[in-house]
Amino acid sequence: MKLILLGAPGAGKGTQAEVICEHLQIPAISTGNMIREALKNGTEMGLKAKSYMESGALVPDDVVIGIIKERLAKEDCQKGFILDGFPRTVPQAEALDAMGVEIDKVIDIEVADEKIEQRLSGRRVCEKCGASYHVDFKPSKVSGVCDKCGGATVVRKDDEPATVRDRLKTYHAQTEPLKEYYAKTGKLVIVEGQEEVADTTRLTLAAVEG
Ligand code: AP5
Repeated sequence: MKLILLGAPGAGKGTQAEVICEHLQIPAISTGNMIREALKNGTEMGLKAKSYMESGALVPDDVVIGIIKERLAKEDCQKGFILDGFPRTVPQAEALDAMGVEIDKVIDIEVADEKIEQRLSGRRVCEKCGASYHVDFKPSKVSGVCDKCGGATVVRKDDEPATVRDRLKTYHAQTEPLKEYYAKTGKLVIVEGQEEVADTTRLTLAAVEG
């Protein structure tokens, strides 16, 4: 199955991508994680993306389209995949179509802007493996320590409140039009993000299987 997860920053795309990945045994591909990894490794692409990412803006289309093209050509994507955070603009969606990728479903996780700030201010990510937690909603077993690899969990740079507000503006201006783009294809399914992660998961899995 080939899925796209749409939604505002902090709507829960990454959290749900992880669950679907385990459920369907297909890779979850997050352009955000791939860019952060490139930044950590000091690659040319990572350095190019740094200022955009840290200010809450989108990385230029040609850079992310290049990353996705390369990733989708890999063997593990042949049976399907979950795209988390791509496409994020209409030109990115058009590029995906031009690659001949037939998407089965586009799941849009909807969460009101007011709740996003609370979610992102409580998010902690592992410096080492990137695993994601929330101090209230999904705490690690030992505070500040990753359950998976024992690395330190920290606040993401772009989760500062002012940057989150800029990311939301970017989302409404550039990514939200994708809802209409995919509604026209009949593949869009809307999931109302819930207070509890488990409730959103139940609705998301029902949308995947429905
Ligand atoms: P990216 O890493 O993709 O960030 P994002 O889309 O802003 O999404 P987030 O990772 O912040 O949130 P999420 O929806 O995955 O939520 P999560 O599950 O973690 O992108 C970062 C940057 O990279 C972009 O700003 C841009 O610069 C660049 N970039 C990436 N892709 C690009 C592209 N295609 N084009 C151009 N630029 C691109 O959940 C958030 C928190 O809430 C967690 O702590 C979680 O535990 C908690 N939570 C989740 N669900 C619930 C729930 N139901 N109830 C309570 N808490 C919950």
